Amino acid sequence: MIIELLKSRRSVRNYTEEKVPQTIIESILEAGRLSPSGGNEQPWKFGVITDREIISQIAEYSYNQNWIKTASFLVVLCTSNVEKSRGARNIQKVRFPKYADIIDEMEEDVYIRLNAEEHQTKIPGSHMILAALEYGIGTNWISYFDVDKVSELLNLPERCIASEIITFGYPADENQQKLKRDFDDVIFLNKFIYPYK
Ligand SMILES: Cc1cc2nc3c(=O)[nH]c(=O)nc-3n(C[C@H](O)[C@H](O)[C@H](O)COP(=O)(O)O)c2cc1C
Repeated sequence: MIIELLKSRRSVRNYTEEKVPQTIIESILEAGRLSPSGGNEQPWKFGVITDREIISQIAEYSYNQNWIKTASFLVVLCTSNVEKSRGARNIQKVRFPKYADIIDEMEEDVYIRLNAEEHQTKIPGSHMILAALEYGIGTNWISYFDVDKVSELLNLPERCIASEIITFGYPADENQQKLKRDFDDVIFLNKFIYPYK
C-alpha cells in the first residue's frame, strides 16, 4: 500500500557505498516519466548523475552539503521552459489576473527562474521517491543549491534550468521519522476555521 510506504519515508542524508543497480534506476526514472503535467506538456528533463566528480561539484554548489557525496546517484529535475510567444505566461496570468501586466512585463530570464515552481518537477520527483521506497532506497530533496551554477555544470540549454535535485542510495543509518503536524492542524473542511495557527 502506498500509505504504508509513505509512513516509512524520511529524508536520508547518509548512504552506504552499495550502488543502486541500473535496472532499479530505470524503474525509478520510469515512475517519473509517467507523471501528470498541465496540458500534458511534460516540461522537464531528468538528469541522472552517477559521475563522482560531478556529484562532488553539485555538493559544493549546494552550499557544501557534503553528505550529498555519499549518494549512489542523483537525479537533477530540470524545468524546460516554454517560450512566451507560445503562451507560457498565460497560466500565471489567469491564476493571478490582478498581476497580469506585471507578469507580462517581467524579463524572460527572471520569469523563467521564479516560475520554475510552476513547471511541476516536484510531481515526477515525488513519483521517483515513492518508486525508490519500494526498493528500500532512501532519498532526499535538495532545493538549497545555486541553480545557475548547477545548470552550467550540466551543460543545460538556455531554456532549461535545474529546479530540484534528489539524492538516491541505500540508507546507512536508522534515522527516526520526523514529527508531522496533527491531522486537525493541517486539514480543514469546506471553509477555514479561525484562528489561523
Ligand atoms: C522541496 C524540498 C527541498 C529540500 N531541500 C533540502 C536541502 O537542500 N537539504 C537538505 O538537507 N534537506 C532538504 N529537504 C529535506 C527537508 O529538510 C525534509 O523533508 C524535512 O525536514 C522533513 O523531514 P522528512 O523528509 O524526513 O519527513 C528538502 C525537502 C523538500 C521537500
